Amino acid sequence: MPVADAAPIPLGLIESLRSARRICVFSGAGMSAESGVPTFRDALTGLWERFDAERLATPEAFHRDPSLVWGWYEWRRMKMRLAQPHAGHRALAGLERRAAQLTVITQNVDDLHERAGNTNVLHLHGSLEATRCVRCAAPFALPADIPQEPEGGRRIEPPRCASCGGRVRPGVVWFGESLPMPILQPAHDAAAACDVWITVGTSGLVYPAAELPLVAARAGATLVQINPLPTPLDAHYDHVLSGTAAQCLPELFAQERDRASLQPGRS
Ligand code: APR
Repeated sequence: MPVADAAPIPLGLIESLRSARRICVFSGAGMSAESGVPTFRDALTGLWERFDAERLATPEAFHRDPSLVWGWYEWRRMKMRLAQPHAGHRALAGLERRAAQLTVITQNVDDLHERAGNTNVLHLHGSLEATRCVRCAAPFALPADIPQEPEGGRRIEPPRCASCGGRVRPGVVWFGESLPMPILQPAHDAAAACDVWITVGTSGLVYPAAELPLVAARAGATLVQINPLPTPLDAHYDHVLSGTAAQCLPELFAQERDRASLQPGRS
């Protein structure tokens, strides 16, 4: 993906960041792309080549062909476990240490934000590691080691629940399922209360998550979008930085820090 030269960050954005008390970062699959985790709308490969992600990530697909779907999630879990946080993840962890309040709201089911050091992370679409029984919802502990999956994938029969014998399912929110209110409500509250909202690496196509930037906009926050490509919601943003997460986030906070040090009386 061609990376735009680092255009100077608008002074207005630097000022908004510096005076912000509450910052929200809203991330999507593009945030993990440079760590080697495929985005959701990248074409699928191997066993799943003839499927699109939206047809696999449903309760119906799991019911229809559990070993195909479980195999896909074990392949994704392998990719996620082998991935390492990049400079963009680390920049957000650094921001959490400096900012008065930073909330990371992610659509991603990986743990790269946490592995980089962020502690206040809301997973709207669940987590690949939080598996549970599809029948009695009992949590299921996966083996600690990294799944060893062939690159092209394979079918794997899902494990069985120890208490009721039901099939174990991934802990993600599938299409057609509701988002968990204990996560969605605080995400909505953070959006309505933030001073600066930074969207990174999402196509803005999937609701209700894609509604959250509009909640922040209606509440008067300064809205920033980071994406190498245009998205349908760009018009709602005060600042659109055309570039990748690993390049733009460190650059944004470096310029904010540098400019801060130029202004007398500001720490
Ligand atoms: N840095 C920043 N953005 C990137 C990068 C990068 N390195 N690479 C790709 N992108 C952008 C793409 O231009 C695209 O707009 O990230 C976005 C990824 O979009 P999707 O694949 O649609 O992922 P996402 O928006 O997270 O999907 C939302 O849909 O399928 C469901 O549950 C799934 O959480 C997912 C949700």
